[in-house]
Amino acid sequence: MVAILFVCLGNICRSPAAEGILRSLAAREYSDVALHIESCGIGSWHVGQLPDERMRHTAKKRGLTLTSRAQQFKPEWFDRFDYILAADHEVINELHQFAKTSEQKSKIHLITAFSPCYKDQEIPDPYYQGEAGFEHVLDMLEDSCAGLLEKIKSKS
Ligand code: 4NP
Repeated sequence: MVAILFVCLGNICRSPAAEGILRSLAAREYSDVALHIESCGIGSWHVGQLPDERMRHTAKKRGLTLTSRAQQFKPEWFDRFDYILAADHEVINELHQFAKTSEQKSKIHLITAFSPCYKDQEIPDPYYQGEAGFEHVLDMLEDSCAGLLEKIKSKS
């Protein structure tokens, strides 16, 4: 079992979309690899909420239904997950402040770390952007999740 946690600021735009995309990709193409997938936010503002309506709408056009409910990151989750994947450097910095050991720090990467097309780029926060911003985030996340699955598969 490989456990993956996607982290953004609010857990209503970027990380729940990443969770949905990885779930769907894994179910379609990698059902032989057992994955545990969750997402969360650094902040507590949106805890309990469904993903942002604009993100759900944009994802739905790609055949993806996003159903997760926002939750806030807890430091003890460093021990529950193998990959802790952050949307941008602000989130990486927040996570590093919670990490106590070098092993915990080594689990933190950018979501794009294994992306063939967007490697090591930040996923821009689409919250104050128009529809094109949400589409671009989904493009980045699809490529990142495909690369992540290849990485996990190559190690298993
Ligand atoms: P996310 O976007 O981090 O991709 O979920 C945001 C959503 C809400 C806020 C910030 C970022 N907010 O400040 O409420």
